[in-house]
Amino acid sequence: MQICRTVEEIRTFVRQARADGKIVGLVPTMGYFHEGHLTLMREAKKSCDAVVVSLYVNPLQFGPKEDLAQYPRDFDRDCAMAWEVGVDAIFSPADEEMYPAGFSTFVEVTGITEKLCGLSRPGHFRGVATVVTKLFNIVRPDRAFFGQKDAQQAMVIERMVTDLNMGPEIVLVPIVREDDGLAMSSRNVYLNDEQRRAAPVLYRSLCAFREAVARGERDVQELRGQIVQMIASTPGAEMDYVEILSVPDLEQLDKVRGKCIAALAVRFGRTRLIDNIIVEV
Ligand code: PAJ
Repeated sequence: MQICRTVEEIRTFVRQARADGKIVGLVPTMGYFHEGHLTLMREAKKSCDAVVVSLYVNPLQFGPKEDLAQYPRDFDRDCAMAWEVGVDAIFSPADEEMYPAGFSTFVEVTGITEKLCGLSRPGHFRGVATVVTKLFNIVRPDRAFFGQKDAQQAMVIERMVTDLNMGPEIVLVPIVREDDGLAMSSRNVYLNDEQRRAAPVLYRSLCAFREAVARGERDVQELRGQIVQMIASTPGAEMDYVEILSVPDLEQLDKVRGKCIAALAVRFGRTRLIDNIIVEV
């Protein structure tokens, strides 16, 4: 497995892979790998001959009051895990390599970024869209892999790729969960024992939503109320948002119809967790 720190190094790696006729896959990450990340890498291995994993904690997508400095990092452990899965190259640049002095170009997807996480994290999706554009331009992958866990992020990337005629095919991978249903996240390590025991309420509330829809409930206010109630009655859980919106436009709905997403963000202490479920009726 090759470890590349500079744009030039990863470009050389990809150039060689292409010259060998290989299909190149990219898995963008911020590291501190868990089974969710590894599942993306395994998916990439299935359909690509050369898999590049980018490992970069992108400062541009963190707000001034967010956890950039505390974001968990363990480069050696990450490399060992990626190697185990058969990843071919890691691209892990320094900030100066990605954003050298004078950097002043940004990619902004409008509309769907003004909902959900876009409201509680202003500028977040601009940072994501900009870094993913750079990664696409640097690596020029045939396919790029993203998790459903960050459903809005995946929608933003798909919108951007369509709107700007970008090359890679976007492959979405279902959410990987712990045995008790908690969606895997690098941020789960911040939870104390009590918070960790309480956190599976997020997925339980989404499953209850899915079951209510399956039983025939269509009223969005009623369905949203049920999720809110389950979370509000959990000690230590502080709701950021709970929304039921249309997919892929993220429009408000009165009644569940077509494809819909129930998405939520909840804080346990200083740790903000997100989860979602998509239903189709
Ligand atoms: P990060 O949070 O490290 O996630 C990297 C990828 O792993 C994302 O596509 C995310 O959706 C996916 N992922 C995380 N947890 C998952 C889970 N439990 N199941 C399935 N997939 C999961 O998302 C980012 O990094 C950044 O915003 C990035 C796209 C790299 C841009 O900086």
